Amino acid sequence: MTSRRAAIITGAASGIGFATAKRLAADGWPLALVDVDAARLEEKAKQIEGVDVQTYPFDLLQAERFDDVVDAVGGCDLLVNDAGIGVAASLLETSVEDWDRTIAVNVTAMFHTCKAVLPAMLDAGGGRIVNVSSIAGVVGLRNRLAYCASKHAVIGLTRAIAADYAHLGIRCNAICPGTVETEWIGKILSNAEDPDATRKQMEARQLDGRMGSPEEVASGIAFLASDEARFVNGAAFMMDGGMTAV
Ligand SMILES: NC(=O)c1ccc[n+]([C@@H]2O[C@H](COP(=O)([O-])OP(=O)(O)OC[C@H]3O[C@@H](n4cnc5c(N)ncnc54)[C@H](O)[C@@H]3O)[C@@H](O)[C@H]2O)c1
Repeated sequence: MTSRRAAIITGAASGIGFATAKRLAADGWPLALVDVDAARLEEKAKQIEGVDVQTYPFDLLQAERFDDVVDAVGGCDLLVNDAGIGVAASLLETSVEDWDRTIAVNVTAMFHTCKAVLPAMLDAGGGRIVNVSSIAGVVGLRNRLAYCASKHAVIGLTRAIAADYAHLGIRCNAICPGTVETEWIGKILSNAEDPDATRKQMEARQLDGRMGSPEEVASGIAFLASDEARFVNGAAFMMDGGMTAV
């Protein structure tokens, strides 16, 4: 595919999403950036140079707003579904409200965004979708019940899209990061009883003994989005410093 319609990135105002925006801009993609945090999205978008950048601040739970984005950019060649939320709770501690919200943001919104971009991708003869799952999409993490269920669902959604549309030129892959030093992890650490001990625990979970950087995950997303990955489809691409290797 040689055309370069926009890459749409959700969750682009922070962490992995913003690093991905910077990386894809460097790779020459015009960008449509979506995030619920309007002020931060504007601030971050200003830091990206060299390509056209459009911002769309809204909550992905408003599905029809995403349809408007796809219309506004005239269809896209690449969708990166990065926006996500987590709740620290086991089964007995998870409220129905937290369960519903986690599934709605992490899974149902992704179902909708994939569905919204697909017709224009099919019309163009193909397209790429990269869905951000997690190590929590392939193993059970303690105290992350709803998050684990949602990230497992992301991989199922990804594989089913690949199975249905690969023969029509669609590549749909998931990336599964280990612990990555973002604002999200910063909040978990600052709320911890002993932030230093919690950080050490988080670092030790990776075989590499450190957290990943948002830029490292962005490079994995850029690879899955690129022609270099033309033989990769329906994958759950582990980028976890070896955490799930043992
Ligand atoms: N940081 C990690 O260790 C890690 C590990 C594995 C997977 N992930 C996944 O990577 C993705 C990004 O994580 P991060 O650490 O960069 O998080 P982050 O909190 O730094 O960024 C997430 C962004 O998504 C946006 N967002 C959340 N809900 C939204 C909604 N309803 N509508 C629009 N925007 C919304 C937030 O405003 C935020 O800007 C998430 O899907 C997360 O589950 C993160």
